[in-house]
Amino acid sequence: MNEALKTLQRQSTPAKALVEPAPDEKQLRQILKTALSAPDHGRLHPYRFISIRGDARHRLSEVFGRATLEREPDVDPAYLQKQKDKPLRSPLIVVAVASPIESPKIPEIEQILSAGAAAHNVLLAANALGFGSIWLTGANAYDEYVRAGLGIGPEEYIIGFLYIGTPAIEFPPRPIPEVSRHHTQWE
Ligand SMILES: Cc1cc2nc3c(=O)[nH]c(=O)nc-3n(C[C@H](O)[C@H](O)[C@H](O)COP(=O)(O)O)c2cc1C
Repeated sequence: MNEALKTLQRQSTPAKALVEPAPDEKQLRQILKTALSAPDHGRLHPYRFISIRGDARHRLSEVFGRATLEREPDVDPAYLQKQKDKPLRSPLIVVAVASPIESPKIPEIEQILSAGAAAHNVLLAANALGFGSIWLTGANAYDEYVRAGLGIGPEEYIIGFLYIGTPAIEFPPRPIPEVSRHHTQWE
């Protein structure tokens, strides 16, 4: 199979179907190195990653819980628990953060696109190493209390919670849309 077709094999795995083992430290470094090789106008590398595994996931669980209570003090306890359980679903979470800088030459949107390309490289590299993953955001990604809990700066964005692990079950290949619906060719 050629390399282009290999990327077709990447597909998301529901976070709760991701189990141990997650990439070890060495594999994670390798994955993040591929992230750092993403297209990047001006070589700014305008992003950073926070990895959370093992017991540290309980810290994120607390952050999600506190954020939910700040948003909705009278929240339904079952919903609160659901929010707190989110980070405990998968063995490794990589928080992808776009960190655009003020630049006269490189607009913020280009820097955020670079961050997105880097995050996608994380998924592709994890897949290449035999792991499953899913890119999730939801209300927590945009929540000021989650941002504070994770130490996100005022100019930064949480662009994704990348859940990574080993798929507990095999999922059938996902459908890919017809290319012709998304492509025109000038003659
Ligand atoms: C920026 C971004 C944010 C996303 N946030 C969510 C999310 O919060 N919840 C969700 O179910 N899927 C989310 N997705 C979509 C999934 O990651 C995934 O791509 C989708 O379920 C399709 O599965 P596939 O990757 O196998 O095609 C997001 C994708 C991107 C690129």
